Amino acid sequence: MTGVFLTFEGIDGSGKSTQARMLAEVLRAEGREVVLTREPGGSPGAEEIRALLVSGDTARWSPETEILLFNAARRDHMERTIRPALDRGAVVISDRFADSTRVYQGAVRADLRPLVDTLHKLVIGLEPERTFIIDMDPAEALKRGLARKSGEDRFEDFGLSFQERLRDGFRALADETPRCRLIDGNRPPAEVAADILPLAQELLV
Ligand code: ADP
Ligand code: TYD
Repeated sequence: MTGVFLTFEGIDGSGKSTQARMLAEVLRAEGREVVLTREPGGSPGAEEIRALLVSGDTARWSPETEILLFNAARRDHMERTIRPALDRGAVVISDRFADSTRVYQGAVRADLRPLVDTLHKLVIGLEPERTFIIDMDPAEALKRGLARKSGEDRFEDFGLSFQERLRDGFRALADETPRCRLIDGNRPPAEVAADILPLAQELLV
């Protein structure tokens, strides 16, 4: 593997997609091949699984079923998009990856972290070189997210206290994981991006 794998994580509406896009633009302007992708999704099959996960009633899937669906989507995304891009030396930027499963399914909704970790080891086994965790007030982020009216609000519909527990989960993950950098997302996009860029560039040759 010769490429570099970067991920963005954080609660819904924290600005991950915006920052992933801004970073991709800057790195492309430097002449690098950048593959900007997302989860759930990032390959045709995984996008189909995404549709099952992000819409519909909150009770549609149990946390255990969600873990299996996210891993099925991730395996396809990894096989068809991430690995081939890394093998040809590209920078891969993914808007969410396995840390979302660790926090959304593994920390918040039930004590399922052992299942999440075991399955990850068995069927994924890939970690990013660096992960930017965009941290911000869940009430503000929820307003931003719901203002989009994307029709993909199943997880936002779990409510504010759920988002607060997610924030705590991501902060704990950042503390325990050396590849993670906690970024204050409650600032204008350009200021947030200015913190992220050098932390990405130091990994690139
Ligand atoms: P996420 O991918 O984390 O859900 P998005 O990047 O899609 O977040 O941003 C959610 C909404 O908030 C979008 O409408 C976006 O334009 C807006 N937004 C993103 N970053 C900021 C920021 N730093 N300040 C204010 N609004 C923002
Ligand atoms: P996303 O489109 O990134 O949502 P947002 O832009 O609102 O942040 O992801 C869809 C939802 O899927 C999001 O609420 C988080 C959830 N999710 C999990 O619960 N587990 C996972 O492993 C992943 C990748 C996402």
